[in-house]
Amino acid sequence: MAFDVRAATHADQSEVAALVREMIPGVDVTARLDWLYTDRNPAGTALTWIASENGEVAGCTSYFPFRLQLDGQPVRAALGGDGYVRPKFRRRGLGGLLHEAARRDMHANDIGCMYGAPGAMNVTPLKHGGSREVGHVARWVRPLRGAALGLGKPPFDRLVRGILRPRFVPYLDPMARFDPRVDEVWELFAPTVRLAAIRDAAFYTWRFLESPSHREPAFVIVRGGRPIGACALELMNGAQTMRIVDLIAVPGQWHACLSAIVRHAAETEAHTVDIKLMALDGRRRHMWRSGFMERDSKPFLVVIPVDGDRRFVDPMRWFYCGADSDLDSLE
Ligand SMILES: CC(C)(COP(=O)(O)OP(=O)(O)OC[C@H]1O[C@@H](n2cnc3c(N)ncnc32)[C@H](O)[C@@H]1OP(=O)(O)O)[C@@H](O)C(=O)NCCC(=O)NCCS
Repeated sequence: MAFDVRAATHADQSEVAALVREMIPGVDVTARLDWLYTDRNPAGTALTWIASENGEVAGCTSYFPFRLQLDGQPVRAALGGDGYVRPKFRRRGLGGLLHEAARRDMHANDIGCMYGAPGAMNVTPLKHGGSREVGHVARWVRPLRGAALGLGKPPFDRLVRGILRPRFVPYLDPMARFDPRVDEVWELFAPTVRLAAIRDAAFYTWRFLESPSHREPAFVIVRGGRPIGACALELMNGAQTMRIVDLIAVPGQWHACLSAIVRHAAETEAHTVDIKLMALDGRRRHMWRSGFMERDSKPFLVVIPVDGDRRFVDPMRWFYCGADSDLDSLE
């Protein structure tokens, strides 16, 4: 047995494409690589590692660079993603070796931390590669209509929908490419979070407006002619759930933005609205005030290089939401 793990080069592109195609069946792999692996990402091209055994390609993992803001300063970091080991090579430590190699190269690649809320299969391999569980990402859910509360018959459903619908709230305006209103919102939101991906107009344009699936439309939330928030939404679970994929809001307007989204969602067939946030952050935001209840959660993992900046592993600092994902559709 001879395992080899190394950084991928341009010459490995077709191998990486084949692995990604196996990992996400049905994906338009050319579109995904063009969106996520090239310098169309405002933080730069992806870093990929490839594992092989006796010359046969077995798997890969990638770092997608993200610009973060840490205590007011921009830093280069990465979202971890597209980790895949072919079934016949699994459970022999290759996943862990891939993550370990990526960590070893963090200094050379100028990556301050790698983070994410991985799938269950990847949690142990990531920990073997040096990642730590620094908290949990929780899902908050708000019912929109009777059906979400088990009152699905038409008269009850309509009645409960009317009662649950917020009134006199701001509205959602489709976001334009490089929308200056997003920069305005980000500049006001940024001082309220200590560690977060920089959600400026360039980021939102790439992450949502240029993503291949076009399933996560982005909006500016407007009140009295002023932008008070920015968000991206996805109708999922057969249109029963409106996921708030991402949300930022100017100080004091978080709940006004949630109300605007709930009102928008109530015009669709969705039964519930939900959003994922760091558990500690969501609780601090008193999500219950807008009718959101905390439900399931999953671990949030961060890896820093040896002697790295420990502020990245502080769960109290993180603002995490759905833009911090390499998936452009949740279906
Ligand atoms: C995740 C993945 C890359 C791990 O590769 P790997 O080479 O098998 O990983 P390792 O051998 O280093 O680690 C194996 C460990 O992963 C965990 N694991 C593996 N399969 C698992 C499963 N179905 N459920 C929970 N944990 C699992 C176990 O802790 C296992 O250790 P064990 O064999 O001692 O029980 C591989 O399973 C895979 O490609 N899965 C499908 C794609 C995927 O889920 N990617 C992650 C997206 S975030």
